[in-house]
Amino acid sequence: MTQTNLLLGVAIAGVAIAATASLLGRKRKEGTNIDGKAIAATIRAEIKDHVAQLQKEKDVTPGLAVVLVGNRPDSATYVRMKKKAAAEVNFHSVDVELDVGVTQEELLQHVEDLNNDPKIHGILVQLPLPKHIDEALVLKRIAVEKDADGFSALNIGNLCLKGGDHPLSVPCTPAGCIELLERSNVDISGKDAVVLGRSNIVGMPVAQLLVHKNATVTVCHSRTKNIEQKVRQADIVVAAIGKADMVKGSWLKPGCVVIDVGINSVDDKTKKRGYRLTGDVAFAEAKPVCSQITPVPGGVGPMTIAMLLKNTLNLARHSSGLTPI
Ligand code: GUN
Repeated sequence: MTQTNLLLGVAIAGVAIAATASLLGRKRKEGTNIDGKAIAATIRAEIKDHVAQLQKEKDVTPGLAVVLVGNRPDSATYVRMKKKAAAEVNFHSVDVELDVGVTQEELLQHVEDLNNDPKIHGILVQLPLPKHIDEALVLKRIAVEKDADGFSALNIGNLCLKGGDHPLSVPCTPAGCIELLERSNVDISGKDAVVLGRSNIVGMPVAQLLVHKNATVTVCHSRTKNIEQKVRQADIVVAAIGKADMVKGSWLKPGCVVIDVGINSVDDKTKKRGYRLTGDVAFAEAKPVCSQITPVPGGVGPMTIAMLLKNTLNLARHSSGLTPI
C-alpha cells in the first residue's frame, strides 16, 4: 500500500468512526407537552355551544351545585375554579358553603334539597370531607341522575360492565385523561398501559376506561413489587399516586406517553409563594425519554373541570330525554 493510499484509508475510517459515534450519540427527539389548558378550552367552547342549543331546543339551562365543607385551601381553589368555569359556559350555578363543623345530618339535608331542585342537574360535593362525616354515605345520597362526579355505584358499575348501560356521568379526571390521549392522537388500542394508583376518584376508573379503549392495563399501588420494571413495559403511563416526582426518567420506556395526574406542592424558596407544584413524574427527566407528556400544572388539571361541565351538560340532556354529547 502506498503512503497516499494508507492516508486515504485512515481518513475514510476516521470519517466512518465519527459518523457512527455521532449516530450513536444522537439524542432522541425530546417529548412534546400535551397542552391540557388549550384542549380544555376547546372542550369548554364546544360545551358552550351545546348549552345554547339546549336552551333553544328545550328551554333548559344546565344547573350545577357545588358543595364545599370547611376551608381547606386546595378544595376552596378547586371549587372557585369549577364555579368560574360553570359561569363561563352559561350554566345556572349554585354554591353551598358550609362550616367545617357542619353535622352530617345538615349536610345530607342540603344534598336532599338539591336533589329536589328542578333547576339543578348536577351536584358535586368537594372531597375530602371532614373526618366526622361519612363520605361514602354523602355520595350515596346524591341522586344518580344528578351525580356530576360519576362516583355513584350505578355509574361506576355501568362503567365496569362490558355491554352495560352508558353511565350517566363518568369520573372527571379519568375522562379527562382519555380525552387528552385521544385529542393528542395517541392510539390506545392494543397498547400496554400502567396506571399508578387505585383510588376511586382516578386509578380505578381510568383503568376501566383504558380497558374499554382496548389497552392492556396493569394497575400498580403501594403493595406492588418491582414497580419500576412494570412502568418500563408501558406505552402509556398514568401516574395518580400523589408522590412528588416519584417516577424517574430512567423508569420510562423510550417513546412512551405520560399522563401525570399528580398535583403535589413542594417547598421552593426561589418562588414568591414559597412552594411550587409538581407532578408524580420527574418532568425534566421524563421529557427527553417520552414522546408526549402532560405538564403540571396545565395538563390534566384543566381537563377535570372541562369534564365536570360535560357531565353536567349530559345530565341536563338526559333530563330532557336527549343522548349524551
Ligand atoms: N377532590 C379531588 N378531586 C375531586 C373530584 O374530582 N371530585 C370531587 N367531588 N372532589 C374531588
